[in-house]
Amino acid sequence: MADLKVNFAGLELKNPLMLASATPGWDGKRLKDAGQAGFGTVISKTISPRDAWNTHPRNGRMVLYRVGNKPVGMINMELFTTQPREQWLEKELLIAREGGAEVCASILAMPDPEVTAELVEELQDTGLVDFFEMNASCPMPSKDVGMHIGKNAQSLYEQIKAVKSVAKLPVMVKFTPGVSDIVEVARAAVEGGVDAIAISNTVRSFAGVDIETGKPLLRGFGGYSGPAIRPITMALLAEVARSVDVPLSAVGGVSKWQDVVEYIMLGATTVQMVTSVMWKGSGIVQEILDGLAAFMDKKGYKSIEDFRGIALSSITTVEELCQEPPLKALIEQDLCTNCGTCHRVCFYEGIRWDENHTWVDQEKCDGCGLCVQWCPKKAIALK
Ligand SMILES: Cc1cc2nc3c(=O)[nH]c(=O)nc-3n(C[C@H](O)[C@H](O)[C@H](O)COP(=O)(O)O)c2cc1C
Repeated sequence: MADLKVNFAGLELKNPLMLASATPGWDGKRLKDAGQAGFGTVISKTISPRDAWNTHPRNGRMVLYRVGNKPVGMINMELFTTQPREQWLEKELLIAREGGAEVCASILAMPDPEVTAELVEELQDTGLVDFFEMNASCPMPSKDVGMHIGKNAQSLYEQIKAVKSVAKLPVMVKFTPGVSDIVEVARAAVEGGVDAIAISNTVRSFAGVDIETGKPLLRGFGGYSGPAIRPITMALLAEVARSVDVPLSAVGGVSKWQDVVEYIMLGATTVQMVTSVMWKGSGIVQEILDGLAAFMDKKGYKSIEDFRGIALSSITTVEELCQEPPLKALIEQDLCTNCGTCHRVCFYEGIRWDENHTWVDQEKCDGCGLCVQWCPKKAIALK
């Protein structure tokens, strides 16, 4: 029977799933509900001492990004908690604990690291928090917080040093994907003494333009989340996992148990999610946990550690790929319906097609594999 428990930066978690910091964690009641729905850990909406941004109600901050009619992502300019800090300290965290999950306080890295450290002390004194996630990663309109701290290795290092000098609880830092070299930032965080890294926050983005009025859909830059960002997050996670040795939490686009497995195979110990919870409700959590456990049983994995990071050693370099023997498309004629799709997507004239059949020109095939990806009948393989 699969054991979903994980040890994450010294914390014993009942499962690797975490509710990521966002709207479904805007107060204690919502965090409690998420805990009861099955999350091993719930992370609060980012608590920020900058009250001027914590306005309520807000004025239109989220736009779905669709391909055809299907939402594949979401752009938000939500900013931080709408709850006053005292409210978190006196009430919301207490309620959050009733859900039975570990409670993580997301705190905003402030321009002065000492102010960030004060916030940590204040929250840890309540005794209601199990660990911290320092948000140095939101794609902010302001130039002095969020990703503007996290994209600079030196300022991130100073933040972590300050926070770690007062923290008695583990501190995780949440990275922005908006960096040119994530490994440099990860090394700075580890040097600063961080206990874990969350990879990563939303991707800085623009929601689009209403072409009838010529006006932007959101009047500023926002954060892109949801299924569309997962390939970006996987690349960042894999790079960091191969470079530093601290526990990692993957965040970005999880909507099904297979996504969780992939992140674990790329080195994550825990996996966070939130946009899918906003779109489908908390019921999705138990579905994912059940799917994960069934997969582990089928594969004979007793614990998450049995398959954590197993994909990393197969990631290679372009130089090595170029040394390997070429492959060519091979069509299984029994499965082929002669639909012409592979012919249409081949720009090398490697796939030939007439009214009666489809075949490969071995001389011209580039071995790129696009026809394999598009074939609706799975009739093509690279051999
Ligand atoms: C509406 C919304 C608000 C968010 N607010 C925060 C926040 O306050 N602090 C934070 O660290 N991340 C915030 N995030 C980012 C999420 O925690 C997460 O990193 C991101 O959405 C990617 O995960 P997902 O694709 O599962 O949503 C927010 C995301 C959304 C969609």
